[in-house]
Amino acid sequence: MATINSTPVLAAKTKALRRNTSQPPFDRNRFVEDCIAAHHETDSIPAVRDVLARAVADHQSVLAGLGEPSAAGLDVLLSSPTLTIFAAQWTPQMNLLPHDHAMWALIGIYTGREDNIFWRRQNGEIEAYGANCLFEGDVATLPAEVIHSVTNPLLRFTGGIHIYGGDFFDTARTQWDPETLIAEPSDGDSIRDMFARENARRKLASGGRSTQ
Ligand SMILES: [Fe+2]
Repeated sequence: MATINSTPVLAAKTKALRRNTSQPPFDRNRFVEDCIAAHHETDSIPAVRDVLARAVADHQSVLAGLGEPSAAGLDVLLSSPTLTIFAAQWTPQMNLLPHDHAMWALIGIYTGREDNIFWRRQNGEIEAYGANCLFEGDVATLPAEVIHSVTNPLLRFTGGIHIYGGDFFDTARTQWDPETLIAEPSDGDSIRDMFARENARRKLASGGRSTQ
């Protein structure tokens, strides 16, 4: 659970909770209902984070409930004006360029590992300043100003539940070219396109066969 240049404010990560053996199996509909109820609480972000942390503490149950990832993609559990929940599935060694969210976000890993590089705005550009590694059961809290790029460093799929405090698919955001760091517009469609390109790339690399 390494953290370089600790980022306690920008991307607080909670340690994996001990699995509660009395917890019922993961149910995606009940999970969404619990998140919605928590989002209505006064201190809504910690409340939703607690729901996510309890779920991924039993990450094997979440994996059983959501299914083993087999392609890059977003399995949307909830899309609403105030709350978006999806399972993001990363192919082996997949990278996602620097991007912001323009809303708070939570990430809870249920299979594999996700590495984050954190970026900050500096003199009209962005520069990297920190990183963390999220393992199964870990939860990261990302305030609205966070910019991050994401890597799955493993030779197998990674899956994480991502929760956003707004309409992720209908919010104008920013992404940065991974080589030039030039800013460009981003939204739900551009993120979906990236996942589609990743699947096409993997298909090409395997000579047309689906690989896992
Ligand atoms: Fe992100």
